Amino acid sequence: MKDQFLTKKILNWYDLNKRSLPWRKNVLSAKKQYFTLVSEFMLQQTQVATVIPYFKRFIKEIPNLNSLAKTSDKKLLKLWEGLGYYSRVKNLKKTAQILKKNFQGKLPNNFEDLISLPGIGNYTANAILAIAFNKPYIPLDGNVERVLKRYLFLKENKEISKEYLSKKKSILGSSIRSSDYAQALMELGALICKPINPLCSKCPISNKCKSFKKREFNFIKNRKKNLDKYFILSVYKKDKKYLLVKNTKFKFLKNLGIFPMQELMKPKKFKKTLNFKMSNMNMNIKIEYPKDIREASSFYSYWVDQKKIRNSMLPTFTKKVFKYLESH
Ligand code: ADE
Repeated sequence: MKDQFLTKKILNWYDLNKRSLPWRKNVLSAKKQYFTLVSEFMLQQTQVATVIPYFKRFIKEIPNLNSLAKTSDKKLLKLWEGLGYYSRVKNLKKTAQILKKNFQGKLPNNFEDLISLPGIGNYTANAILAIAFNKPYIPLDGNVERVLKRYLFLKENKEISKEYLSKKKSILGSSIRSSDYAQALMELGALICKPINPLCSKCPISNKCKSFKKREFNFIKNRKKNLDKYFILSVYKKDKKYLLVKNTKFKFLKNLGIFPMQELMKPKKFKKTLNFKMSNMNMNIKIEYPKDIREASSFYSYWVDQKKIRNSMLPTFTKKVFKYLESH
């Protein structure tokens, strides 16, 4: 009974305060499924505000699963350019192709089939079942986790483990409006139960929240630490062209154009030129200008005109390095 009360309060708050997001539009079922699939792939590692224009452009250019399955990799990468984590869009296309071939072009509405698809993990499967199919699942993203941890005042390492939280999420209750409810919890975490300075006076459940009672909120330490990594990045320039390589070496930015790089294992002395954060990596980069081009020329290397770099299909990382080079 208590849980239902909580659910009602959260849903009432959501009805009055939800953001109008393009993937939340009222559309027919097939479209809703497609919107959910695309938005959840985009939102896997990227914030809502960044995703909005990408989502709109993507849907305008590629309006359904069928066209997604047929879109060239080149066009997809261009539409994804700047969002990062490019394996997501490759998996998205593979998923569309599998759906077309094995699932009559529709998203399955059960966990086992969903999780078998490329790029769909536990979280995304839960999100799709709740949002697209209105099933009583609660996807546990960072925002929902925070609401739960604070509501229950969970502090111990054991208590904030994924497994433990997964069991506890039933505390948050359920609703026949499962689609709205999943999004309401995400929204509560994003807009009210913020990581720093939560807006408890506006929170619909603060009177039952243990953290609010104790006035103690900042115990979310379960973050992955940024991993320090060290790279030498080699710049080769000839006739206003830069040498790039197709990245087959590193796990990040796979198969995309990067400046030739080499990773150093914990160097004793390292004077970095650039710093770049990617995934959970803190990249320390030293730029060098080697004379001998033979080291870098390989099957995977190619020259790119400096004028074309800005508009070409290259990862933001490469463009930022290029920008640095142009201004130094
Ligand atoms: N983060 C992940 N999925 C989301 C959604 N559907 N709405 C808002 N934020 C999200």
